[in-house]
Amino acid sequence: MRVLIADDYHEMSRKAAAIVNSQVLLKPDCVLGLATGSTPLGMYRELIRLYQNQAADFSKVTTFNLDEYYGLDKENKQSYAYYMNTHFFNHINIQRENTHIPDGLSADINEACRRYEQRIAEKGGIDLMVLGIGTNGHIGFNEPDTNFIAETHRVMLKKETIQDNSRFFKSAEETPTMAISMGIRAIVQSRMLLLLANGEAKADAIYKTLKGTIRPEVPASIIQIHPNVTILLDRHAAKLLL
Ligand code: F6R
Repeated sequence: MRVLIADDYHEMSRKAAAIVNSQVLLKPDCVLGLATGSTPLGMYRELIRLYQNQAADFSKVTTFNLDEYYGLDKENKQSYAYYMNTHFFNHINIQRENTHIPDGLSADINEACRRYEQRIAEKGGIDLMVLGIGTNGHIGFNEPDTNFIAETHRVMLKKETIQDNSRFFKSAEETPTMAISMGIRAIVQSRMLLLLANGEAKADAIYKTLKGTIRPEVPASIIQIHPNVTILLDRHAAKLLL
């Protein structure tokens, strides 16, 4: 496990983008796993900048997002589909048919989840999975007490996650309480993991993830078993490690 500590959010984002772009340069038709939320916004901005400077080419890349809110359609400004389009896909040369986000509106959620797993398998699995982390240690929306062998599934979000996410909605009441999330299994089966965290609010989750025992109460702790993990932090998130 490599732990890299950047001075600030900008340096963290630049390094994250460099790692993702190296993967794309080494294997132009690679499969990326992608996260949403506040943490990777700077990384997406930097990847767009690299693309504009002709230093990155996403034309053959395939992507699978970690999660989507249950019950929000793609046009909803709070959906992760909308987030990915506005913050990344609209600004690069990725082919839309190569981008995948769990379907939060499907009439048959179990079937949609099964197809999502199948599509990942058909593409040969994920080469590089970019992860954020919840203040409660979730990865994707695999909440505490998660099943480590779960596949893509519908999850009930925990109180603290709904609270954390409510900053993007008008109120906590409007914040979705369910989501579709890639399971821990597909995440750890990815060939490389890149976990990003910034800000003091993540320090405790990072400490438990890296130094604690591997347990379902801290879903991210499972990454300790992975042979190829890079943890990229700003110094605030790394505070308890120093
Ligand atoms: C989002 C995701 C979540 C977030 C986590 C941190 O796709 O998978 O696990 O990475 O909730 O969110 P931010 O970055 O907003 O603190």
